[in-house]
Amino acid sequence: MGKTLILNASPRTGGDVAALLDAVKAELRGPVEELRLFRARLSPCVDCRRCAIEPGCVIRDEMDRVYADDFDGVLAAAPVYYGDLPGPLLNLLSRFQAYYMAEAALQSPIPLRRKRGALILTGGGHGGPEGALRHARQLFRALGAGGFEEHTVLSLQTDALPAREDKAALAAARALAPWLEGKV
Ligand SMILES: Cc1cc2nc3c(=O)[nH]c(=O)nc-3n(C[C@H](O)[C@H](O)[C@H](O)COP(=O)(O)O)c2cc1C
Repeated sequence: MGKTLILNASPRTGGDVAALLDAVKAELRGPVEELRLFRARLSPCVDCRRCAIEPGCVIRDEMDRVYADDFDGVLAAAPVYYGDLPGPLLNLLSRFQAYYMAEAALQSPIPLRRKRGALILTGGGHGGPEGALRHARQLFRALGAGGFEEHTVLSLQTDALPAREDKAALAAARALAPWLEGKV
Protein backbone atom coordinates (compact mmCIF):
# COMPACT_ATOMS: atom_id res chain seq x y z
CA MET A 1 0.00 0.00 0.00
CA GLY A 2 1.23 3.50 -0.84
CA LYS A 3 2.96 5.57 1.81
CA THR A 4 1.46 8.97 2.72
CA LEU A 5 3.49 11.96 3.86
CA ILE A 6 1.55 14.52 5.89
CA LEU A 7 2.92 18.06 6.01
CA ASN A 8 1.16 19.44 9.09
CA ALA A 9 1.58 23.22 9.08
CA SER A 10 -0.61 24.05 12.10
CA PRO A 11 1.10 24.93 15.37
CA ARG A 12 -1.96 23.88 17.36
CA THR A 13 -2.57 20.50 18.93
CA GLY A 14 -6.29 19.81 18.85
CA GLY A 15 -6.98 22.76 16.53
CA ASP A 16 -8.89 22.95 13.28
CA VAL A 17 -6.27 21.37 11.03
CA ALA A 18 -5.80 18.61 13.62
CA ALA A 19 -9.53 17.81 13.57
CA LEU A 20 -9.51 17.35 9.78
CA LEU A 21 -6.23 15.44 9.83
CA ASP A 22 -7.67 13.06 12.45
CA ALA A 23 -10.54 12.35 10.03
CA VAL A 24 -8.10 11.51 7.20
CA LYS A 25 -5.77 9.46 9.40
CA ALA A 26 -8.66 7.35 10.69
CA GLU A 27 -9.20 6.16 7.09
CA LEU A 28 -5.58 5.66 6.01
CA ARG A 29 -4.56 2.00 6.00
CA GLY A 30 -0.99 2.15 4.75
CA PRO A 31 2.19 3.68 6.23
CA VAL A 32 1.94 7.32 7.25
CA GLU A 33 4.71 9.76 8.10
CA GLU A 34 3.77 13.13 9.60
CA LEU A 35 6.05 16.13 9.64
CA ARG A 36 4.89 18.76 12.16
CA LEU A 37 6.45 21.78 10.59
CA PHE A 38 6.15 24.16 13.56
CA ARG A 39 8.24 21.71 15.58
CA ALA A 40 10.57 20.43 12.89
CA ARG A 41 14.19 21.46 12.53
CA LEU A 42 13.82 22.68 8.96
CA SER A 43 15.76 25.67 7.64
CA PRO A 44 14.55 27.91 4.84
CA CYS A 45 16.74 28.14 1.76
CA VAL A 46 19.64 30.49 2.62
CA ASP A 47 20.63 31.10 -1.03
CA CYS A 48 24.14 29.72 -0.48
CA ARG A 49 24.17 28.75 -4.19
CA ARG A 50 25.99 25.47 -3.65
CA CYS A 51 23.16 23.80 -5.56
CA ALA A 52 24.29 25.73 -8.67
CA ILE A 53 27.63 23.88 -8.45
CA GLU A 54 26.63 20.45 -7.12
CA PRO A 55 23.14 18.93 -7.41
CA GLY A 56 21.03 18.85 -4.26
CA CYS A 57 20.89 20.82 -1.03
CA VAL A 58 23.83 20.89 1.41
CA ILE A 59 21.63 21.61 4.45
CA ARG A 60 20.96 18.41 6.41
CA ASP A 61 17.79 18.65 8.49
CA GLU A 62 14.25 17.28 8.50
CA MET A 63 13.82 18.35 4.88
CA ASP A 64 15.63 15.07 4.21
CA ARG A 65 12.31 13.34 4.98
CA VAL A 66 10.83 15.20 2.00
CA TYR A 67 13.91 14.83 -0.22
CA ALA A 68 13.75 11.05 0.41
CA ASP A 69 10.84 11.07 -2.08
CA ASP A 70 9.70 7.69 -0.78
CA PHE A 71 5.99 8.45 -0.58
CA ASP A 72 3.14 7.97 -3.05
CA GLY A 73 0.72 10.51 -1.62
CA VAL A 74 1.35 13.87 0.05
CA LEU A 75 -1.17 15.78 2.14
CA ALA A 76 -0.41 19.39 3.04
CA ALA A 77 -2.62 20.75 5.84
CA ALA A 78 -2.44 24.35 6.97
CA PRO A 79 -4.32 27.25 8.51
CA VAL A 80 -4.51 30.36 6.34
CA TYR A 81 -2.20 33.04 7.77
CA TYR A 82 -2.53 36.54 6.32
CA GLY A 83 -4.17 35.06 3.25
CA ASP A 84 -1.24 32.71 2.64
CA LEU A 85 0.37 29.48 3.78
CA PRO A 86 2.11 29.66 7.19
CA GLY A 87 5.83 30.50 7.20
CA PRO A 88 7.16 27.00 7.95
CA LEU A 89 5.43 25.59 4.87
CA LEU A 90 6.85 28.41 2.73
CA ASN A 91 10.28 27.62 4.23
CA LEU A 92 9.84 24.03 3.05
CA LEU A 93 8.83 25.23 -0.41
CA SER A 94 11.97 27.39 -0.62
CA ARG A 95 14.13 24.29 -0.17
CA PHE A 96 13.07 23.11 -3.63
CA GLN A 97 15.38 25.80 -4.97
CA ALA A 98 17.97 23.02 -5.18
CA TYR A 99 15.70 21.20 -7.66
CA TYR A 100 15.18 24.36 -9.68
CA MET A 101 18.94 24.94 -9.85
CA ALA A 102 19.64 21.34 -10.83
CA GLU A 103 17.54 21.95 -13.92
CA ALA A 104 18.28 25.64 -14.62
CA ALA A 105 21.98 25.85 -13.73
CA LEU A 106 23.23 22.26 -14.04
CA GLN A 107 20.90 21.04 -16.83
CA SER A 108 20.50 17.88 -14.79
CA PRO A 109 16.98 17.66 -13.34
CA ILE A 110 16.60 15.64 -10.14
CA PRO A 111 13.96 12.99 -10.94
CA LEU A 112 10.87 12.88 -8.74
CA ARG A 113 8.49 10.00 -8.13
CA ARG A 114 5.00 10.85 -9.47
CA LYS A 115 2.58 11.07 -6.59
CA ARG A 116 -0.92 12.14 -5.55
CA GLY A 117 -1.48 15.45 -3.77
CA ALA A 118 -4.19 16.67 -1.41
CA LEU A 119 -4.68 19.88 0.53
CA ILE A 120 -6.51 20.92 3.69
CA LEU A 121 -6.90 24.63 4.47
CA THR A 122 -8.62 26.16 7.48
CA GLY A 123 -9.34 29.82 8.09
CA GLY A 124 -11.16 31.91 10.64
CA GLY A 125 -13.23 33.76 8.05
CA HIS A 126 -11.00 36.79 7.64
CA GLY A 127 -10.28 36.88 3.92
CA GLY A 128 -9.98 34.45 1.08
CA PRO A 129 -7.49 31.62 0.56
CA GLU A 130 -6.28 32.74 -2.89
CA GLY A 131 -2.70 33.42 -1.81
CA ALA A 132 -2.52 30.11 0.04
CA LEU A 133 -3.89 28.26 -3.00
CA ARG A 134 -1.39 29.93 -5.32
CA HIS A 135 1.56 28.85 -3.18
CA ALA A 136 0.02 25.42 -2.66
CA ARG A 137 0.04 25.00 -6.44
CA GLN A 138 3.77 25.77 -6.49
CA LEU A 139 4.36 23.41 -3.58
CA PHE A 140 2.64 20.44 -5.22
CA ARG A 141 4.38 21.12 -8.52
CA ALA A 142 7.72 21.11 -6.69
CA LEU A 143 6.78 17.85 -4.95
CA GLY A 144 5.84 16.21 -8.24
CA ALA A 145 2.28 15.71 -6.95
CA GLY A 146 -0.85 15.95 -9.08
CA GLY A 147 -4.57 16.18 -8.47
CA PHE A 148 -4.64 18.47 -5.46
CA GLU A 149 -7.09 20.89 -7.08
CA GLU A 150 -9.79 18.20 -7.07
CA HIS A 151 -8.68 17.01 -3.63
CA THR A 152 -8.76 20.19 -1.58
CA VAL A 153 -10.78 20.44 1.62
CA LEU A 154 -11.64 23.92 2.89
CA SER A 155 -13.01 24.90 6.29
CA LEU A 156 -12.76 28.67 6.14
CA GLN A 157 -15.19 29.90 8.78
CA THR A 158 -13.66 28.25 11.83
CA ASP A 159 -14.38 31.21 14.16
CA ALA A 160 -18.09 30.54 13.61
CA LEU A 161 -17.89 26.80 12.81
CA PRO A 162 -14.86 24.99 14.25
CA ALA A 163 -13.55 22.33 11.87
CA ARG A 164 -14.44 19.53 14.30
CA GLU A 165 -18.12 20.53 13.84
CA ASP A 166 -17.87 21.15 10.08
CA LYS A 167 -19.59 17.97 8.89
CA ALA A 168 -19.08 18.67 5.18
CA ALA A 169 -15.36 19.28 5.63
CA LEU A 170 -14.96 16.22 7.87
CA ALA A 171 -16.65 14.01 5.25
CA ALA A 172 -14.52 15.50 2.47
CA ALA A 173 -11.39 14.93 4.58
CA ARG A 174 -12.26 11.26 5.09
CA ALA A 175 -12.64 10.91 1.32
CA LEU A 176 -9.03 12.07 0.80
CA ALA A 177 -7.64 8.83 2.24
CA PRO A 178 -8.47 6.45 -0.66
CA TRP A 179 -7.20 9.03 -3.13
CA LEU A 180 -3.89 9.43 -1.31
CA GLU A 181 -3.45 5.66 -1.16
CA GLY A 182 -4.24 5.16 -4.83
CA LYS A 183 -7.49 3.25 -4.31
CA VAL A 184 -9.61 5.56 -6.48
C1 LIG B 1 -1.03 34.61 12.51
C2 LIG B 1 -2.42 34.26 12.07
C3 LIG B 1 -2.91 34.76 10.86
C4 LIG B 1 -4.19 34.42 10.41
N1 LIG B 1 -4.63 34.88 9.21
C5 LIG B 1 -5.85 34.52 8.76
C6 LIG B 1 -6.31 34.95 7.47
O1 LIG B 1 -5.64 35.64 6.72
N2 LIG B 1 -7.55 34.54 7.06
C7 LIG B 1 -8.35 33.75 7.86
O2 LIG B 1 -9.46 33.43 7.45
N3 LIG B 1 -7.92 33.32 9.09
C8 LIG B 1 -6.69 33.68 9.55
N4 LIG B 1 -6.25 33.21 10.76
C9 LIG B 1 -7.11 32.28 11.54
C10 LIG B 1 -6.71 30.82 11.34
O3 LIG B 1 -6.47 30.52 9.97
C11 LIG B 1 -7.84 29.90 11.85
O4 LIG B 1 -8.11 30.15 13.21
C12 LIG B 1 -7.53 28.43 11.64
O5 LIG B 1 -8.73 27.69 11.67
C13 LIG B 1 -6.56 27.88 12.66
O6 LIG B 1 -6.27 26.52 12.39
P1 LIG B 1 -5.50 25.62 13.48
O7 LIG B 1 -6.40 25.55 14.68
O8 LIG B 1 -5.27 24.30 12.88
O9 LIG B 1 -4.20 26.31 13.74
C14 LIG B 1 -5.00 33.57 11.23
C15 LIG B 1 -4.50 33.09 12.46
C16 LIG B 1 -3.24 33.43 12.87
C17 LIG B 1 -2.73 32.87 14.19
